[in-house]
Amino acid sequence: GKTHHHDFVIQATPVKRLCKTHNSITVNGQFPGPTLEVNNGDTLVIKITNKARYNVTIHWHGIRQLRSGWADGPEFVTQCPIRPGGSYTYRFTIEGQEGTLWWHAHSSWLRATVYGALIIRPREGESYPFQKPKRETPILLGEWWDANPIDVVRQATRTGAAPNNSNAFTINGQPGDLYNCSSKDTVVVPIEVGETNLLRVINAALNQPLFFKIANHKLTVVSADASYTKPFTTDVLMLGPGQTTDVLITGDQPPARFYIAARAYQSASASFDNTTTTAILQYKSAPCSSTNCAATKPVMPQLPAFNDTATVTAFSRSFRSPRPVEVPTDIDENLFFTIGLGLNRCPTKFNSRRCQGPNGTRFASSMNNVSFVLPSTISILQAFQQRIPGVFTADFPANPPVKFDYTGNVSRSLWQPVPGTKGYRLKYGSRVQIVLQDTNIVTPENHPIHLHGYDFYIVAEGFGNFNPKTDTKKFNLVDPPLRNTVAVPANGWAVIRFVADNPGAWLMHCHLDVHITWGLAMVFLVDNGVGELQTMQPPPEDLPLC
Ligand code: C2O
Repeated sequence: GKTHHHDFVIQATPVKRLCKTHNSITVNGQFPGPTLEVNNGDTLVIKITNKARYNVTIHWHGIRQLRSGWADGPEFVTQCPIRPGGSYTYRFTIEGQEGTLWWHAHSSWLRATVYGALIIRPREGESYPFQKPKRETPILLGEWWDANPIDVVRQATRTGAAPNNSNAFTINGQPGDLYNCSSKDTVVVPIEVGETNLLRVINAALNQPLFFKIANHKLTVVSADASYTKPFTTDVLMLGPGQTTDVLITGDQPPARFYIAARAYQSASASFDNTTTTAILQYKSAPCSSTNCAATKPVMPQLPAFNDTATVTAFSRSFRSPRPVEVPTDIDENLFFTIGLGLNRCPTKFNSRRCQGPNGTRFASSMNNVSFVLPSTISILQAFQQRIPGVFTADFPANPPVKFDYTGNVSRSLWQPVPGTKGYRLKYGSRVQIVLQDTNIVTPENHPIHLHGYDFYIVAEGFGNFNPKTDTKKFNLVDPPLRNTVAVPANGWAVIRFVADNPGAWLMHCHLDVHITWGLAMVFLVDNGVGELQTMQPPPEDLPLC
């Protein structure tokens, strides 16, 4: 493969949205950031120079980073942050992955504006396993705040309250026609009668699962999270933050203008940003020219209701691998993790200003009742490799500390998770199954759970409490979809399987950033195997230290 060199300068740049300009953190002054385009088998060498006043790291979301865990990016997990004025070069090779991924900052809430598409085409000379598209367009769904997102999250952590909702959703950085001061910049996606195009849809929003629809056009799903799927046709997509979905769309309508639209899927009982972002699908031969088009209104699609879980379920259950796959069996590690919010008591040393969650509490969240706390003096990966004690403990529980009716009426005594920096150790090559069980603590919610360093098979999902006796019979061990982020149903569960064949320290977390802030994360510590192909590379010389 080829080697691609890029320079990313992290810097404050004036960005005007919703009638106001503020200094946003960008890469090379671009918002969204640059699109990276490579082929399977290529190597990326990306030098980050931090000219902003915040610490930063960059994560290559969905890239497996086989043996190159030092390039994964989550701050204090695989590296210390790149300080203002500092730099770090990420180097990694794409081994066997094709499709749409993305990159984003993995430090505080910087990814609100620091993100971009990462497109991996087949190896040179090879073609897609579907009709060759005439055009390809990345569609990045984002979330925009009128305030500095770093201030929004700081305010929330100071007070323990829920952070403010965003003020807009965006498509390729633009809110679109339905927002103030936005219509002249609405994104236009070209199409022509008869042609079939590929849209690479990425949910880069911080905290919101989104429905996505295009008026009068069917979408044929061909890939998700850079794994091909058995093609299926649908009117509407739902993507949790972190997920990607590639769709084919055919210009089979009379040449005109149609809205591409996205808005919230909200399964939690909480306030949310109820606005709709739009772009325009425009036929090149539409009878209006670019100058008089503004007079003709594009056709608006009817999006599902914000709480339409039935549509989400039908959609997520449509995914299959294109052909039978080798799903791990003879499981070595049978894990059961609860996912939940929580409300912690106000420590007595705090005055009431610092505990503005419900009834004077502070919001929290956890897996198996552990609310994850990042270290601050060294990364977990360094501590793991160099056997430095006192940074983390490897006693993350394989099962919830108490069993309860997870999706029933949960006793308030179970609402307070315990903070900790805990990992779960995996032998190289272990065959792992995890039941991810949502709970009714505070509110049930559809959580997009993302695992770094691996793709996993989603063998089943369902509602209520996972029942090992009956639900195991429903597992798809033939052609389940391969993903890096699973949208766990609200008040339900999902079961994933993977083989721990990549040594390192790998974060697993909810991709709603507010939930990471509250502790919905844990780390897998995967040992080296035998020989070079099973052993982590040594740390790069410029690895940022704390
Ligand atoms: Cu896309 Cu840990 O993140």
